[in-house]
Amino acid sequence: MSISDEKPWGGRFNHPTDRLVEEFTASIQFDKRLYRYDIEGSIAYCRMLAKQGIISSEEEEKIVSGLENILKDIEAENFAWTPDLEDIHMAVEKALIDRIGKAGEKLHTGRSRNDQVSLDMRLYLRDEVEKTLDLISALKSSILKAAKNEIDIILPGYTHLQRAQPVLLSHYLLAYREMLDRDEARLKECYDRINIMPLGSAALAGTSLPIDRGYVAELLNFPKITKNSMDAVSDRDFVAEFIFDASLLMMHMSRFCEDLVIWSSGEFGFVEISDSFTTGSSIMPQKKNPDVAELIRGKTGRVYGNLVSLLTVMKGLPMSYNRDMQEDKEPLFDTVDTVKGCLHILSEMAGNLKFNRERMLEAAAGGFSTATDVADYLVMKGVPFRESHGIVGRLVGYCIEKDRELSALTIEEFRKFYSGFDEDIYRCLTAEDSVNSRSSYGGTAKKAVLKRIEEIEGEAKGKGLKAKGKM
Ligand code: ARG
Repeated sequence: MSISDEKPWGGRFNHPTDRLVEEFTASIQFDKRLYRYDIEGSIAYCRMLAKQGIISSEEEEKIVSGLENILKDIEAENFAWTPDLEDIHMAVEKALIDRIGKAGEKLHTGRSRNDQVSLDMRLYLRDEVEKTLDLISALKSSILKAAKNEIDIILPGYTHLQRAQPVLLSHYLLAYREMLDRDEARLKECYDRINIMPLGSAALAGTSLPIDRGYVAELLNFPKITKNSMDAVSDRDFVAEFIFDASLLMMHMSRFCEDLVIWSSGEFGFVEISDSFTTGSSIMPQKKNPDVAELIRGKTGRVYGNLVSLLTVMKGLPMSYNRDMQEDKEPLFDTVDTVKGCLHILSEMAGNLKFNRERMLEAAAGGFSTATDVADYLVMKGVPFRESHGIVGRLVGYCIEKDRELSALTIEEFRKFYSGFDEDIYRCLTAEDSVNSRSSYGGTAKKAVLKRIEEIEGEAKGKGLKAKGKM
C-alpha cells in the first residue's frame, strides 16, 4: 500500500507515519506564524516558474489566486491547522492542491522545503528587524526627551556601586542612548545578512530546471542571492546573529532596569516609577514594586537561553540541512516577542519616571564625591597627582573622623594637610562645580552634554533618510 495520497513525500513509503512520529516531528503549531511569508514566497516563485515557461500562465493564475485565497482564509481564521500537515510549507501546499487540483502540484517544482524554510525565515526576520528598529528608535526618543527635560539634575555617579563623582542625570540617561545606538547599528548590519534570497538552492545542490533566481529575488525585493546552495540550506547564522543582537539589547535594558529597581528603593529614593507601571503586594499594603523593571531583567535571561539553545543546536551538524534546524524557530520567535515587548513597555515606563532632584543632589554632595576635584585642584597647583591623591585621602580620613563634609572645613584645616590650599578651593567642592568642570568632549559638564544633545539631534535628521534608502 502506498500512502502517497496523504503525504507529499509518501511515494516510497509502505506504511503510514506513526501518530507519535507525526506529533513529534510537527512544527506546524509554531511555524504557522510564517504563513504570510510562505505564501508571499510561493507566489513569487510561481511567477518565476511561469516566466521561465516551466508552468503555463493559466497554471500560474490558478496557483496565485489559490494562494491568495488561502492567505485570506488564514487571516480570517477560517483555516484548519492539523498536525498531520507537519509544517507550514506542507499545510499551504496541501490546501492549494485540495483547492485547485493538478496545477497546485506544480508549485514545488525545483524547490525544497530546505530552501523554502530559509526564505520564509528571512522574509519574516526582515519585517521583525524593522519593527524592532522602530521600537528602539521610540525608546531612544523617550530617553532623549527625559535627558533634555532633566538637564539640571545632578546625582552621584557610581563605580562598584560606591559613590564616585557627581554627574548630570542627562549624561547618565544618554549613556543608555549610546548603547541603543550601537544596538541599532548592529541590527542594521544583521539586516544586510538576512536580506539575501536562498530559493533555488533546492534540497542542497541547486536544481537542473531552468529557474531564474534573480527574478525571484527581484519580486521579493532582495538585493542579493545566496552564492552556494549547500551553505544556503544549512545556514542559520542570520538567526543566531539576530538573537545575539537581541541579547545585547536586552542586557542594556536590563541594566537600566536594575538602576531603576535600586533607585526606586526607599534607601535611594531617586526615582518614582508611576503607579501605572508598578504593582502592589498581596500581603504588604505599603508596597509598590518595580515588577516591570524586574521582569525585563528576568526576561533577559531567557533571551540568552535562546541564543545558547540555537548555537548548541547548530554546533555539531554535518553539512547540510538537518532536521535539528527546525529547533531554530521557537527560540527565534520567543526572542522576537520578548525583545519587542520589553522595548515597548520600557519606552512607556521611561516616559513616566519622576526623578527626585533634592534626593539626588543631596546624595551627590555627600560621600566625598568631590574628592577627585580637590586632588585635581592640587595638581593645578603643581602637586604631582600621586602626592595629591595621598593628601586628599588623609583629608577625607580627617573628615570621617570628625563627621564633617569637605566643604565644611576651614581654610586652616585644609592647610594642615597642604600649605598651598587657597580660598579658591571652595570653588571646587560643590557637586555642581565638579560636574561643570568635566567639560572634556564626552564628559558630564552641562556644556558637554548639551553639545552631545545637539549632535544627536543633527544625526537624527541625516540618519532617517539613509535608513529609508536602505530598507
Ligand atoms: N519544518 C522544517 C524546518 O523547519 C522545514 C524543512 C523540512 N525539510 C525536510 N527535509 N524535512 O526545518
